[in-house]
Amino acid sequence: MAVAASAPKGRSKIEERYLARTPLSREMQARAEKSMPGGETRSVFFPPYPVTLSHGKGVHCYDLDSNEYMDLSNNYTVLIHGHCFPPIVEAVKKQVELGTNWSAKAVPQVELAEMLCERFKIVDKVRFANSGTEAVLAAVAIARAYTGKRKILISRFSYHGHLLEPSSSHGELRDPNDRSGSWLECYLADFGDAADFERVLAAHDDIAAVMLEPVLGQGGCVTAPPEFWTRVKAAAHKAGALLVLDEATVHRVSTGGAQKYLGIEPDLTVMGKLVGGGLPCGSVGGTDEVMKCLDPRTGNCHLSGTFTGNPLSMSAGVQAVKYFTDEVVTKIERDMSRIQDAVTKAAAKYGLPFSSRRVGNIMQMYFSATCPPFTQVRTDQTLVDKFQLACTVNGLFVVTRIMINSSSVATDDDITEIIQRLDRSLEDVAADV
Ligand SMILES: Cc1ncc(COP(=O)(O)O)c(C=O)c1O
Repeated sequence: MAVAASAPKGRSKIEERYLARTPLSREMQARAEKSMPGGETRSVFFPPYPVTLSHGKGVHCYDLDSNEYMDLSNNYTVLIHGHCFPPIVEAVKKQVELGTNWSAKAVPQVELAEMLCERFKIVDKVRFANSGTEAVLAAVAIARAYTGKRKILISRFSYHGHLLEPSSSHGELRDPNDRSGSWLECYLADFGDAADFERVLAAHDDIAAVMLEPVLGQGGCVTAPPEFWTRVKAAAHKAGALLVLDEATVHRVSTGGAQKYLGIEPDLTVMGKLVGGGLPCGSVGGTDEVMKCLDPRTGNCHLSGTFTGNPLSMSAGVQAVKYFTDEVVTKIERDMSRIQDAVTKAAAKYGLPFSSRRVGNIMQMYFSATCPPFTQVRTDQTLVDKFQLACTVNGLFVVTRIMINSSSVATDDDITEIIQRLDRSLEDVAADV
């Protein structure tokens, strides 16, 4: 019996509309629940059941019932150029004809490596992986090989992929001696609190790396002052640890990542999401000095993988990065600023509590008068759930925690249309409170 796919009692008007529009998604959820736990293979479920998408083009995506959505998720920031970006489609088609995978390097791999080395100031060399999670684990392996130490210090409410420290992304304060639920033993400190990081680093001599997001993505576009970065880097080096910045999500705020935007120079950088152009990819980069441990002739760190650097992901990534220019950064930031202004005014018009935090072209919304320090401790979940469903019935595809971003292919008219749909969604929420 498909529990989640069944229609709940006491439905709101928004939910009634959702159910009426999405019968095929509902059927697909029931079918999927027979072969996958909860009918899912990643954490994208939302009640009463999520839509199943069939295709996407540009800023739009479509579900099984042919409903059209303007995509404000872009697969959690991956699709910097929207769906089916022609240069990426062309490159991938060409590569498919040439072969998809072999146990040797391919030219697009070298091209993408060169581009990332050029764009990230501290990156002399890169190593590819198949996802952000894998690139994070590669960074940990490199830091361990380089420092001879084992443990990792991360911030509370950070997210570095599902294997590193699942509990921190849900806001639990983990005892560093408790390894349950985590693949690695991590120390935790408070993001933005340099003294907390200094204290942990001074107290332990077994830390290989301080791994931080330059801006907390899942945490809700949270930034830290420049002094935080200077002090944490100095304390890390004093303790014999490397500073690793995980750019998987926030790379898109600048061509050289958020580290360029914020003026931070780490020892290692993790890249993911956009660098694969919509195909599976991750990457870790750093200085020659740190990365030389991976040289198969002389290095002491073995990292490999059957699909790493596969020609399909690499050829898609080359096009994604090539077209991700400073002009694109300026344009998508301006678009998101327009959306932020409009949605703030619309929420006030409908009498809804509202606040938001934006970094570049990524914006986190809250239905509370002020932003909580981190998304994981938000208190507005009821309104968030209503809003997410209201967006869906008004033709917007947004993720459950309401972090939105846009793509390079959105025109000014598209942004106007997005703003109108957001306005209608807020109106529906206000009518349903
Ligand atoms: C900062 C950060 N690191 C790592 C990851 C994991 O990347 P992936 O989902 O590709 O494994 C994510 C994913 O959201 C992320 O936001």
